[in-house]
Amino acid sequence: MPPGIDLLAATSFANGQPHEQFRWLRAHDPVHWHPEPDGPGFWAVTRYADVKLVGRDPATYSSSPTIMIADATAGPPDGDHDMMIMVDPPVHTQHRKLLNARFTPRAARALRHRIEELATRIVDAVAERGECDLVTDVAGEMPSFVIADLLGLPLDDGRRLYALTETLHAAPGTRTPEAVISAMQEMFEYGRGVANAKRRSPGEDLSTLLVRSEIRGRPLDDTDFNLFFILLVDAGGDTTRNLVGGGMLALFEHHDQRARLLGDLDGLLPGAIEEMLRWVSPVVFMRRTATVDTSLGGQNIRAGDKVVMYYGSANRDESVFSEADRFDVTRRPNDHVAFGGGGPHFCLGAHLARVEIDAILREVLVRLPDIEPTGPPEWLASNFVSGPSHLPVRFTPHRARAGEADGEAPRARR
Ligand code: HEM
Repeated sequence: MPPGIDLLAATSFANGQPHEQFRWLRAHDPVHWHPEPDGPGFWAVTRYADVKLVGRDPATYSSSPTIMIADATAGPPDGDHDMMIMVDPPVHTQHRKLLNARFTPRAARALRHRIEELATRIVDAVAERGECDLVTDVAGEMPSFVIADLLGLPLDDGRRLYALTETLHAAPGTRTPEAVISAMQEMFEYGRGVANAKRRSPGEDLSTLLVRSEIRGRPLDDTDFNLFFILLVDAGGDTTRNLVGGGMLALFEHHDQRARLLGDLDGLLPGAIEEMLRWVSPVVFMRRTATVDTSLGGQNIRAGDKVVMYYGSANRDESVFSEADRFDVTRRPNDHVAFGGGGPHFCLGAHLARVEIDAILREVLVRLPDIEPTGPPEWLASNFVSGPSHLPVRFTPHRARAGEADGEAPRARR
């Protein structure tokens, strides 16, 4: 019997991704026509090979007008302003060139030391309490601080911006339209203020780089700047937080894997992070729109149809991953698609995200070795990003590192 298929309802994601639905779809209807209460419907693509194919073929499957399932009712793109994630090559390539140098593996490595400092500060803030919410007090702090640093903003503002993305990513019906519009406006206003401030007093940060850049042969105006600004804040925040929260939850639920990882943290952590990415798949989907009539998985797709790639399903595709439903910190190979399937929009922040995740997991696992949940997780009410929204934990309290004598502090660093 097929399970009830509903990939839009927040309830389907109330306990994580709807893996039972995905499993059935991969086996029986891998390119599934999914109805949409307020729209024309969309194709739900659930097999790994098809997800890769769609993501790598922007000529057939366009990122314009949007990568969300619902068509935007208003706002950019207006033909003269585009958000990078919602535009195809060659314009996309011009946008991406502006940012690329700041997101290379080398650039991410150069930030490692600062990111490790932030990880220490985050764990310091909870260490003496002996309990906290692992998602809001620890996992969420890291990406909001890092994005603030990157953009040249006060760390506290990173927190506020990241709270706004929460509202923007919430499932339809879980926030009032007014709340969503007001979050968008606040983000825009804030971004405009940053652009002006950086024009007046430039720094070494990404915001300054952007206000000094050109696109389409002219300097970026406030709208261009804001579209980059919002994308960066939006893309790097709850994704990374969800991975850390969901990854720790996976370790809590798989004691053998946790013990194995702790037995050789330096050797196994990089691979364990890849497995967490596969397992959690923090970005549930990206949408494309067919530009021509085509076929996929035996279905006829018509020009204009919405085609939605489900990364969490592709990452459990049993034809690619052996024992796909097993969490295995030593899994090799592990060619997951949590950052996308390798097309032009492949996650710009993938290297940076890995450094953030490594630093915070290392700090938590080494400094809070007996950390354990004190209750069940609460999950995000979103069909777009997946992860726990709250995860209460306890651990043996200890003094913050800043208060410890040299050499006394547990070593989390490599
Ligand atoms: C665990 C953390 C993260 C996950 C799972 C993730 C996942 C993704 C996915 C699935 C895409 C779309 C790929 C595609 O369409 O082919 C994407 C795009 C993007 N990500 Fe990430 N991301 C993460 C962290 C970050 C971070 C830390 C940043 C930057 C601060 C970032 C910036 C971006 C940007 C700018 C794009 C759009 C790229 C483009 O349109 O060319 N992401 N990410």
